[in-house]
Amino acid sequence: MYVKWDASYSTGIDLYDEQHKRLFQMINDLHDGIRAKKGRDALGEALSGLEEYTKTHFGAEEKVMSATSYPGFANHKKQHDDFVSQIRDVRFRHDNNEPVMSVELIGFLVQWLKDHIFKVDHEYGPHLKGNWKF
Ligand code: FEO
Repeated sequence: MYVKWDASYSTGIDLYDEQHKRLFQMINDLHDGIRAKKGRDALGEALSGLEEYTKTHFGAEEKVMSATSYPGFANHKKQHDDFVSQIRDVRFRHDNNEPVMSVELIGFLVQWLKDHIFKVDHEYGPHLKGNWKF
């Protein structure tokens, strides 16, 4: 296991915490696959799955931020869009046989997600909880 979710990551919103846990699990699975030198197709599928679930999670946050006129929405969405674009770029490079599957990639994914949860997701808790019924 490369990264472990703990209570310090909690946003105060169970739905998003559960989604973050799943993202951590998917990154751990990708890490394990890289360490086990799994084949190109299997690693590509793991990365595609992570990309898709990342979009699902971001969409879930964005839906409520938008519906509740969250003041930080535009900046938050820009961070999401930039990250999805970076994962998509890695997937394209993998599909073109570039050697992108590395522990450094996992380090980047984990660091981005940690920073985002601590510095950006942690900001929306009070506003969203006060303005939306989860
Ligand atoms: Fe949980 Fe803004 O991503």
